Amino acid sequence: MEAVIRTVWREKGRLYIIDQRLLPDKEKTVELKNIRDVWSAIRNLSIRGAPAIGCVAAYGVALSALKTKTGDRKIFVKTVERDIKYLATSRPTAYNLFFALDRMEKVLKDAGNVSVAELKKRLADEADAIYEEDLKCCYKIGVNGASLIKNGMNVLTHCNAGALATSGFGTALSVFFVAKSKGKKFHVFVDETRPVLQGARLTAWELKKAGIPYTLICDNMAGYLMQQGKIDMAVTGADRIAANGDTANKIGTYSLAVLAHYHKVDFYVAAPFSTFDPCVKNGKGIVVEERGGDEVRNIRGVCLSPKDAPVYNPAFDITPAGLIKGFITENGIIKRPGFGTRD
Ligand code: MRU
Repeated sequence: MEAVIRTVWREKGRLYIIDQRLLPDKEKTVELKNIRDVWSAIRNLSIRGAPAIGCVAAYGVALSALKTKTGDRKIFVKTVERDIKYLATSRPTAYNLFFALDRMEKVLKDAGNVSVAELKKRLADEADAIYEEDLKCCYKIGVNGASLIKNGMNVLTHCNAGALATSGFGTALSVFFVAKSKGKKFHVFVDETRPVLQGARLTAWELKKAGIPYTLICDNMAGYLMQQGKIDMAVTGADRIAANGDTANKIGTYSLAVLAHYHKVDFYVAAPFSTFDPCVKNGKGIVVEERGGDEVRNIRGVCLSPKDAPVYNPAFDITPAGLIKGFITENGIIKRPGFGTRD
């Protein structure tokens, strides 16, 4: 399966990403040479979006393992475990990061007494498997979700849940890519998504590339559009879904879900099972990342507020399960029983 856009890839033993901070102005490939590069790339949003973070973390662990010189099994395992713990501190909310790191750790735990060379191979294979599985899951999400798109629809999305946010096919945007490939005619409203503008910079760029008609709006315009009956459905991605369906996603998602509920607009979350955290009972157990104030004070280096304006900058919010009409997954659409705004 081919990625729509390559976000993270391994080539001749080297690890590369597109630096998403520079899009859409520059499409710059960056090599991540060691585990610190991988950590920083995740932390500073060079690579972002829950599934993409999981993929790059897995590749990062594999890269570091392959570069480790020791032939001593114990030292090798300790080094890799240290790298796994280190990457787990890069960002707290996206469950895919922990899903991928747990799988890498399991490779070590299940290996028995095999050689360092064999361990290296198994870690590299597991990282490839995590990537390939994500690609397939995202495509299936698209196929399943495309059934919801009807000709003439106006769909709203928030943040970037596109190819860039995954192994290369997207979740919410996969629904649009597949719907387009089936000849459906529809239009997407794209929230700009302050503070970091993933909608304006990344989603708009991806939809343009794919030839899908879209209109960019400021985040505070969505309610007005819904009031005018201009939005038929909303689809977003997710960073972590608790066992009861409460969903962490980019800040502003909750407001949209409330607006959608009020205006009787179906609100869907598209995500692979690697985003579902069975260990967290509900949204209260999800750690929401807080980021630095400059992301809010500044837009692309230009300060728009008093330079020392106090800032609160939660990167995500939690949408209660009761506001979500259904989860578009690789295994089908999980509709919430009893939830019905339209049908
Ligand atoms: O801070 P970001 O850009 O990593 O946040 C990304 C999102 O909130 C996405 O909607 C989510 O990760 C789903 S990506 C398929």
